[in-house]
Amino acid sequence: MAGGGFSVSSSAGTEFEAKITPIVIISCIMAATGGLMFGYDVGISGGVTSMDDFLREFFPAVLRRKQQDKESNYCKYDDQGLQLFTSSLYLAGLTATFFASYTTRRLGRRLTMLIAGVFFIVGVIFNGAAQNLAMLIVGRILLGCGVGFANQAVPLFLSEIAPTRIRGGLNILFQLNVTIGILFANLVNSGTSKIHPWGWRLSLSLAGIPAGMLTLGALFVTDTPNSLIERGRLDEGKAVLKRIRGTDNVEPEFNEIVEASRIAQEVKHPFRNLLQRRNRPQLVIAVLLQIFQQFTGINAIMFYAPVLFNTLGFKSDASLYSAVITGAVNVVSTLVSVYCVDRVGRRVLLLEAGVQMFLSQVVIAVVLGIKVTDRSDNLGHGWAVLVVVMVCTYVASFAWSWGPLGWLIPSETFPLETRSAGQSVTVCVNLLFTFLIAQAFLSMLCHLKYAIFIFFSAWVLVMSVFVLFFLPETKNVPIEEMTEKVWKQHWFWKRYMDHDNHHVVNGKNNTINNAAV
Ligand code: BGC
Repeated sequence: MAGGGFSVSSSAGTEFEAKITPIVIISCIMAATGGLMFGYDVGISGGVTSMDDFLREFFPAVLRRKQQDKESNYCKYDDQGLQLFTSSLYLAGLTATFFASYTTRRLGRRLTMLIAGVFFIVGVIFNGAAQNLAMLIVGRILLGCGVGFANQAVPLFLSEIAPTRIRGGLNILFQLNVTIGILFANLVNSGTSKIHPWGWRLSLSLAGIPAGMLTLGALFVTDTPNSLIERGRLDEGKAVLKRIRGTDNVEPEFNEIVEASRIAQEVKHPFRNLLQRRNRPQLVIAVLLQIFQQFTGINAIMFYAPVLFNTLGFKSDASLYSAVITGAVNVVSTLVSVYCVDRVGRRVLLLEAGVQMFLSQVVIAVVLGIKVTDRSDNLGHGWAVLVVVMVCTYVASFAWSWGPLGWLIPSETFPLETRSAGQSVTVCVNLLFTFLIAQAFLSMLCHLKYAIFIFFSAWVLVMSVFVLFFLPETKNVPIEEMTEKVWKQHWFWKRYMDHDNHHVVNGKNNTINNAAV
């Protein structure tokens, strides 16, 4: 049940003739709305769950605990229901990924995005109108289904519609829009928290803007040529290709897509194929990158920043403002990645960020360990500023490393015939671990207290060592040449590359693994 994505770049590494046409611009806007929607969902729940009006309506016990001041500072938000509000979205999303993998292949990318948009809109209605906890959770589950469908279809749509020379940039653009969505959510929350008693409803309802944009976009754009050709609509595929490339000279690219489609269709069991020994390096790396990305602890900050700052004794307003600051740092630092990723490379960014994240987390843990006890949250102005600055240096380094690269590296290392199955596994594992962090963080904070930051910093150490020894540099390596130039050259992974299992397609220099499953 693969999504069936394949690259539009020439397998010989040459460029096809392609202009940046309005259709390509529209597809960028689509990517923006898919990413915005995901980011908005990530960012909105933390602010909402720190609003008293919201707690009074759905989690009165948490509000009582918060107001009574009897509870340990670290534990006042520890409530499974409250965490389920945040995490149910990711659980639904990871389940939806597998259906999305099927629909992207059978119904196409465009229809899958439309399905995502409809899920988003219905989910927003449930959330904005919620009268009880059940409606709230159902709404989050529907939004999660939207995320599952959108995160599978939008990146494939983009990579297939974009001219090769801007494909890498577009990939990080998606993450950039995730961060803009998070910032937008934080800004909305800081405004709506002043509107009583229904500000939270406005926060949840405004997700309707990116949801509506995605749906409208999906109605108006055309499906990708790859998807049309994959479903046997060759003439239509060729016409679309001419339109999006702005030229009649599309024969070479058209032939390559037809060939790629033929090879992809030869693979009867993409997921089983993924498990073969020769695909082990990419699979292991894709899965570990998702686990590591989430164990940096980033979503502890993204979901719960206002709650966390509140725990540290910041007043509600100050908490939301601090969350806006971290949100802005997240956006700006992602731009650093767009600029650096093809210049300094993936490994340098990841290793530098490892040091920066480790140090920031240790400083936060030490300050909290000394200043915030169970009963006293008197952090003091100077220390509070230091904590916010450390959170910012931590978020900045995540945003130019694990944030975008966690998505970019898997998408560029899988060979053609396992790329779409690989994308499903990547999204699924990512959402699974996002769910685990969302569900566990407030309880972990309650039990581990300041040491939670030591916990995450230890993980940062582990992942940095992994990068140092096991993650090869993929900067400037054409996708189709990864096997030869990266995996076969790597001191450890080369043992998984069985040399006789590759054959040459089209007489060109790309190696395609023969799909003997
Ligand atoms: C991660 C999300 C995270 C976001 C923060 C993404 O790459 O997958 O889980 O919330 O970055 O910017």
